Amino acid sequence: MDSMRTRIIGQQLIELASVDSTNMCAAELLALKEIGHGAVILAHEQTDGRGQRGRIWRSGAGLDITTSVVLLPQHLPANEQFVLAKIAALAVHDVVAEAMRMAVGGEPVRIKWPNDILVDRRKVAGILIANELVAGMVVSSVLGIGINVNSSELDAEFNATSLRMETGLVHDRLALLEGLCQRLEHYLDLWESGDRQFHSRYTDLLWSRGRYADLELDGQPFSARPVDVDAHGRLLVEDEAGHVQAFALERLRFANR
Ligand code: BTN
Repeated sequence: MDSMRTRIIGQQLIELASVDSTNMCAAELLALKEIGHGAVILAHEQTDGRGQRGRIWRSGAGLDITTSVVLLPQHLPANEQFVLAKIAALAVHDVVAEAMRMAVGGEPVRIKWPNDILVDRRKVAGILIANELVAGMVVSSVLGIGINVNSSELDAEFNATSLRMETGLVHDRLALLEGLCQRLEHYLDLWESGDRQFHSRYTDLLWSRGRYADLELDGQPFSARPVDVDAHGRLLVEDEAGHVQAFALERLRFANR
C-alpha cells in the first residue's frame, strides 16, 4: 500500500500476507523495539485471531480488515485507560458509518459497550486492546481491530455481519484502513488537546442507551437501562426503581442476543 495521508498513525505500516494474530505480532515487535508510536500492522490473513473473553476471531483471507495499531501514550494513568477503548470504538464506528452511507436505508451504527460495533443488532467489528502498565501508567497499547468488510460467510451464532452483507457492495479495504487511521488520529488529537467532546459522542452512540436491555450481572439475568460509561469504563445502568449503578466488565455483560 502507498503511504497513508496521516501524520502519525500508519506512517510505519507493516503489511503481512499472513500472520497468526496481528496483536501478537505487534506485541513481539514492540518488545524488540522495532515499532513505535503510530505503527500499524495489517494482515491479509490471520490464522489465530483472538477475540474478547478468550474467543477466536474469524475473518476471511483477503476479504476483511485485521489490524493492530500501536500507541505509546505520554501520560495515561492506568485508571483512565478506557479512553483508548473509546477512541478506538469511535474511529471504527466512523469508518463503518461512512461505508454504510452507501446502503439504501442503511441501519444505524452503534457502539455496544465496551467496544463492539453493531449495525442494528448485528456485529460488524470488534476491538481487542492490550495495554502494558508500568508503575500505574499505560506505557504502550495495542489496539487490535477486526472489521468484517467483504466476508459473506460469517458466524450466525454471534449474529455477525459484514459491510458487504449490509450494503451489497464490495468495499476497498485499504481505503477503509486509511480512513480508520485518520479517524484514530483525529480522536487522539482531540484527547491530547484536552477537548472532551468525544466523550459525549461515545455516550450518544451507545447501543441500547436509555432502553431496557437484557444483561447478565454476576452470571444472572438482569434488566436495566444503560445510560452512560464512567471514566473507568464502567457501564452506568438505571434499574426500574431509577437507581443508577456502575458495573465493570468483570461483573456485567450484555446477554447474548
Ligand atoms: C472481539 O472479540 O470482538 C474482538 C475482536 C478483535 C479482532 C482483532 S483482528 C486484529 C487483532 N488481532 C487479533 O488477534 N485480534 C484483533
